[in-house]
Amino acid sequence: MNDTNPIAVQLTIDGEPIQAAPGGTVLDACRAAGIHVPTLCHDPRLEPYGACRLCVVEVEGMRGYPAACTTRVADGMVITTENEVLRGLRRTVVELLLSDHKLDCLTCDNAGACALQDVAYELGVSESPFEGERHRAAALDENPLIDRDYDKCISCGRCVRICEEVQGCSVYSSTFRGFDMLPDTPFSASLLDAGCEFCGQCVSTCPVGALSNRGQRFTGRVWELQSTETTCGYCGVGCTVTFAHKDGVITGASAPLDRGVNRGNLCAKGRYGHGFVAHPDRLTTPLLRRDGKLEPASWDEAIAAVAEGIRGVVEEKGPDAIVGLASAKCTNEENYAFQKMIRAGVGTNNVDHCARL
Ligand code: SF4
Ligand code: SF4
Ligand code: SF4
Ligand code: FES
Repeated sequence: MNDTNPIAVQLTIDGEPIQAAPGGTVLDACRAAGIHVPTLCHDPRLEPYGACRLCVVEVEGMRGYPAACTTRVADGMVITTENEVLRGLRRTVVELLLSDHKLDCLTCDNAGACALQDVAYELGVSESPFEGERHRAAALDENPLIDRDYDKCISCGRCVRICEEVQGCSVYSSTFRGFDMLPDTPFSASLLDAGCEFCGQCVSTCPVGALSNRGQRFTGRVWELQSTETTCGYCGVGCTVTFAHKDGVITGASAPLDRGVNRGNLCAKGRYGHGFVAHPDRLTTPLLRRDGKLEPASWDEAIAAVAEGIRGVVEEKGPDAIVGLASAKCTNEENYAFQKMIRAGVGTNNVDHCARL
């Protein structure tokens, strides 16, 4: 935001004058200014919630320690994001979470990409001084894609909210209250029976290893994986997707929060439909039927055979005997070139595409 923006809100954060967009939260303003405030229950795809209290800050003139993620900016606010008191409050939050957490970092697939690990490290919390009852929530779900291990749940509500706010599915709700609160399906049904679409959005927002992708289990530590950003090839939405891979095999898919038309979201196909890439049945070369038998052919041979076939039909029956059907998997440019070929090359307007796969 530049100096002359007349509608900007003027703030002071940690002694620095900052301009912020009106209507945003203190957390938005801090992030836009590059000021780190730790969070656990926040996801920019979701409405502010204020569950974890990790993002507490001080605001001059306000009582207590408001949560940065739920406090709206106002002109003239003076905000402190870091001091000993705030650090102590945040440490207590983490200590309380660790007092009822299955510390499974040795074998948890989320290790290295876990927000709880990150804040514990940042605040120097290696153990909890609090003792008492611990949850033992069995992870029972017979479905092929999503693992639920509520011994690691921190009750941030992100899975409940993304399923309701973004997916419109409301498969989960927060069950019980206080210490016993957990996200669960109606009557603890399997996700298969609870109307789940298996988009994996809940897994994508879970800040810890309570929800994870079953197929990714033991396929590699986060730091061993390479990642490649590309465009999902399944439909015309063209979501930005990041594939994690190891030794040339895709192990999982995610999406960056800050770019692409999808801004972190993926559907079931984009998130889980990548098994075909390394499948032994996958076609990797064109096939031509010779003497009634399909045989591998080069692209030049295949294109020549298609051209000859089209030419024969046009000569015998006219161009309107041909229909061109393109694919939503192609790019706009590829589809443009295809319709041009059918219209200008073949001479018919019989051209369409499948909208979705
Ligand atoms: S996979 Fe999608 S539909 Fe199923 S519970 Fe998670 S967010 Fe909801
Ligand atoms: S399962 Fe994950 S996203 Fe859901 S409430 Fe627990 S920690 Fe949060
Ligand atoms: S298939 Fe799903 S993830 Fe892929 S582009 Fe379409 S909507 Fe996006
Ligand atoms: S991130 Fe603000 S209360 Fe959880």
